[in-house]
This record gives sequence, C-alpha cells and structure tokens, in this order.
Amino acid sequence: MMQIPIAQPRAGEEEIEAVIRVLRSGMFAQGPVVAEFEEKFSGYCEVNHAIAVNNGTAALHAALASAGIGPGDEVIVPSFSFIATATCVSMCGARPVFADVDPSYFTIDPESAHALFTRSTKAVIGVHLFGQPFDVDPIRELCNDHNAIMIEDAAQAHGAIYNGKKIGGLGKGGCFSFYPTKNMTTGEGGMITTNDTDYAAMIRRFINHGQSEKYRHTSIGYNYRMTDIGAAIGAAQLKKLDGLNARRLHNADYYDRHLKRTGIVVPERRKDCTHVFHQYVVKVTRDFSRTREQFMQDLKAKGIGTAVHYPIPIHRQPVYESAGATCPVALDLASQVMSLPVHPLVTDEQLKYICDTINEMM
Ligand SMILES: Cc1ncc(COP(=O)(O)O)c(C=O)c1O
Repeated sequence: MMQIPIAQPRAGEEEIEAVIRVLRSGMFAQGPVVAEFEEKFSGYCEVNHAIAVNNGTAALHAALASAGIGPGDEVIVPSFSFIATATCVSMCGARPVFADVDPSYFTIDPESAHALFTRSTKAVIGVHLFGQPFDVDPIRELCNDHNAIMIEDAAQAHGAIYNGKKIGGLGKGGCFSFYPTKNMTTGEGGMITTNDTDYAAMIRRFINHGQSEKYRHTSIGYNYRMTDIGAAIGAAQLKKLDGLNARRLHNADYYDRHLKRTGIVVPERRKDCTHVFHQYVVKVTRDFSRTREQFMQDLKAKGIGTAVHYPIPIHRQPVYESAGATCPVALDLASQVMSLPVHPLVTDEQLKYICDTINEMM
C-alpha cells in the first residue's frame, strides 16, 4: 500500500556538502556562513536587513521586545494559529488579545482586530497562515491609525507574495521559522526581516546577550543565535525554495481540480497574492459522509497521512482560556479543518491516489 506522510523533510547533496564544509572549517558558530545566509535571505525577501536566529519563536520574541513591547502593553493576534504567535507576546510580559479570523482564508479578520484596539495596543501580529498572505493593507492601516506596529508572522510563508510584494518587508518586522517541515529549513532556525536599520541593530543586540561591543552589555539579551551549520543548510535550501514552492503549488492545483466531494471545501486563495501552500487545508463540513476524525482514520488505513492544524484555537488553550476571549470562526474552523499532504515530495501518482481514494469513498 502507498504510504504518504503529511510532511517529509529531505536534505540533498548540496545541504550535506555545505554542512561538511562548515564542519571542516571549525567555525561552527558566529562564522561567515550565518552572515552570508542573512544577506542572501534579505535579498530574496527584498528587504534591507535579515537577522538569523535559532528558531521562529525566538524571531517573534526578538521582534516584539526590540520594538519596546513590554508589561502593560497589548498585542492583537489571531486565535487561529500556532501557539507561538501568542506566547511571544507573553514572553515580553505583554498581553495577547485574540482576534477572530476570516472563514474563507483562515487569516486575521481586520474587522475583528479593529474592535480590539485600546490605548494599550502596541502591535498587531498578522499570520500568513498555511502559506497564504493575510490581508495586510487594512491591518497596516489600522496600525498606522493607532500608532501601533505591524509584525508579520511569516513562519509558514517563505516566498509568498502580497499584491506584488514579497512578504517579510510589509510591516515593522517579518518573522520566519526554518523548522524541518517548513517550506525551507535549517534544522531548527528562524529569521527576522526588516527595512529599519536602527531596529535591526536592536534585534542584533537582543539576540546576542544585549551586547553592543565585545563584552559590553547595554541591555538584557538572550542567546538566540543561529549556528553556521544551520545557516549552511539554509543557504542551500534558499536556492531551491522557488522550485520547492512551485511543486507545492502544483500539488495544490491538482487537489483543487480533482477533489470532488460534497462536504469537502478546498482552500480559497486571496486575489493578487501568491500562496505557497505550507499546508493544504480543507474543511470537512457536516455535509460530508463521515466525521473528520473518521475520515482521518479511513485515510490512515489507506496509507494517507493527514493532520489537524489546529485542533484548539489559541484563545481556548488552557494557558489562555481564563481571559475569556470569543472567536467563533476560529472555534468552528478548529472542528472542521484537515491538512492533506502537499509537500514537494508528493508525486503525481500519489496525488491521483489520494484524490481517487477520497472521491470513491462511500
Ligand atoms: C505560525 C507560526 N508561528 C511561529 C512558529 C514558531 O516557529 P518555531 O517552531 O521555529 O519556533 C511556527 C512554527 O511552528 C508557526 O507555524
């Protein structure tokens, strides 16, 4: 029977050789390869600065803290995302305030966000969820009107395009993750992108012990640095990113064209944007012949891996539910969404098998 995992990280010879070169050089950290990767990534994202860090959560924490977010501040975040979109706010001593999401695109709903602004709102984090840009223009306008900053959580959207512009440079800072299942990887890793030179310098200090010059520390910082080993993998992956994303898009197009079942709703794409399909997320509605959980079990029995991103919206997570936020769309989506394998290693034969299996289920 065919076995098709939901994610399949893979390193090629280029990554392997790049890592070996670093290992042979003896410069495992704070060497030249991190700087080279940063420069290539900033070029790719069409931004002035890119700062490499050791994971995407560190990127978000550094982006907020370096913008001065702290105790007493509120940051509006979408409830339908990975937990790190909110915990980074708590890590600063600030309060995440949960906005609902759009039922078609799954990204932050500007109207919901609008209603949550107070005098304490200092930032909004929009998430380019599953590889699809959030509706940046209205969120940026709200931020400008309220003297707040806009941060892009770009952990799932390397290479996505919003109205002709690469994501990552659309607000104060863009935060990427390079976890193995992401569109590109460094093992664990992350990156902050920005066009603001002073802000970039603050971030560099924050991720390196608050150090302004060697052994002189002007603020509390962390050790959030990326290794040169990770950066070597990242630089090799970056060269392949457009090709990997094109394959994800090809796979998503195939599902769009061939999935034909009442009750299965394929993902909608925002106009004038390029979705990079970190995940291909369908809605399994009440009109379908079985529950989502039964559906997943049946697909598993046929060798097809699936996942739920995400089963509990953040405002309902035990760590945040006492705040009593209500986000009915996020709650509804959490009970309906299901991800199908869309990663670059899914073959045409496997796509046909998955669609035939679903379309032929009783
Ligand atoms: C939307 C989102 N934000 C933040 C993160 C955090 O990234 P990392 O796992 O690299 O810390 C992730 C990664 O899973 C993510 O999907």
